[in-house]
Amino acid sequence: MRVTVYSAQPYDRRFLDAVGATQFADAGIEWHYQSVALTRQTVALAAGSDAVCVFVNDALEAAVLEALAAQGVGAVVLRCAGFNNVDLVAARRLGLFVARVPAYSPEAVAEHALAMIMTLNRKTHRAYNRVREGNFALDGLLGVTLHGKTAGVVGSGRIGLAMARILHGLGCEVLGYDPAPAAAFEAYGESVPLAALLARSDIVSLHCPLNEATHHLIDAAALDGMKPGAMLVNTSRGALIDTPAVIAALKSRQLGALAIDVYEQESELFFRDHSAEIIEDDVFARLASFPNVLITGHQGFFTAEALDEIAQVTCANLVAYDRDLECPNRL
Ligand code: NAI
Repeated sequence: MRVTVYSAQPYDRRFLDAVGATQFADAGIEWHYQSVALTRQTVALAAGSDAVCVFVNDALEAAVLEALAAQGVGAVVLRCAGFNNVDLVAARRLGLFVARVPAYSPEAVAEHALAMIMTLNRKTHRAYNRVREGNFALDGLLGVTLHGKTAGVVGSGRIGLAMARILHGLGCEVLGYDPAPAAAFEAYGESVPLAALLARSDIVSLHCPLNEATHHLIDAAALDGMKPGAMLVNTSRGALIDTPAVIAALKSRQLGALAIDVYEQESELFFRDHSAEIIEDDVFARLASFPNVLITGHQGFFTAEALDEIAQVTCANLVAYDRDLECPNRL
C-alpha cells in the first residue's frame, strides 16, 4: 500500500517508519514523505498512491478531495484528532475513506496547557533568561498562588477531563461548561453555563472542538463577560477565539494574560522555521509583542507517547481501509 505523507516532519518519519516496520510490518505500507502541505498545488504529488496521510494544516477542501479521488487515491488518514480541515460532505460524496486518531494521550495536551499556565503565571521564561545574565532581581516576576483560584474548563471531553483532573489536583475550584458534559467531570468540578464560567473563572482553558457553533466562541462580548484580569488558555483550535478582539481586551487590561498553542492563521507559520524571515502577519506580531502573552507552535500533542500512538492508530486505520475491515475511527 503506497501512502503519501504530507506535512511530514523528521519526527513523523521516525515514528511512522518504526511502527510500519515492526508492529505493522505485514501490512506492506510504503511511506512516501512530502514536507509540503496538501493543497491544490501539491495534490499531484499523491498520484499513484492508495492513501494520503495528513495533519492539522493540510487543506482537505472539496477541490483537493476531488483531485485525490480523480488520481485514484481512496483514503485519507489524519494524524490528528481534529478534522475541521476536511470537507466531510465532499469526502462522502466521493466515496473516500476518512479516518482520524481520536485520542493520543489527552494528558499530553492537558499537561502542555498546565505548562503554559505555570509559565505565564510565574514567568519562568523570563526568570530563566534573567538568571543566565546574572540578574536575580524579582521585580516583574510576581505571580499568584493557583491553589484556591477558580479555573474554567470549556469542553469536558478527553482533554478537558484530563485538564479538570490536573486543576483539581492543584487545589483550584473547577468549573466546566459542555453541552454534553461527561459524567466523570463531576468528580473534579461543577458544571455551569458558559456565561457563569467566564464571569467566575481566574483561568479559562478551552478544550472544545472547532465547528460552526464554537467559531469565535471567545469574541468581544465573551471577553467583556470574563472576570477582569483573568487568563485565557487555548490549546484547541485557533479560530475558537477572535484574535483582534483578544488583542483589544489585552490592551484595555480586561484580559490579564493569554496562552495559546494554536492560532487562527497558524497554517502560514507553524511547524516551520521562519527565524530568518520577516513575519508578514501583523496580528500575530502584535500578539507576540505583549509581555503577558505566551505562544507555542501547536506542540500540545508533542510527546513520544503521543507520536507512537498516532503512528499505531494511523497504521491500523490504513489496514482497516486496505482489508475492508470495520474501522472505529472512520469519520
Ligand atoms: P473530545 O471530542 O473528547 O471532547 C470535546 C468536548 O467538547 C466534548 O465533550 C463536546 O461535547 C464538547 N463541546 C462541543 N461543543 C462545545 C461547545 N460549544 N462548548 C463547550 N464544549 C463543547 O475532544 P478532545 O480529544 O478532548 O480534543 C479537544 C480539542 O483539542 C480537539 O477538537 C482539537 O481541536 C484539540 N487538540 C489540540 C491538540 C494540540 O496539540 N494542541 C492535540 C489534540 C487535540
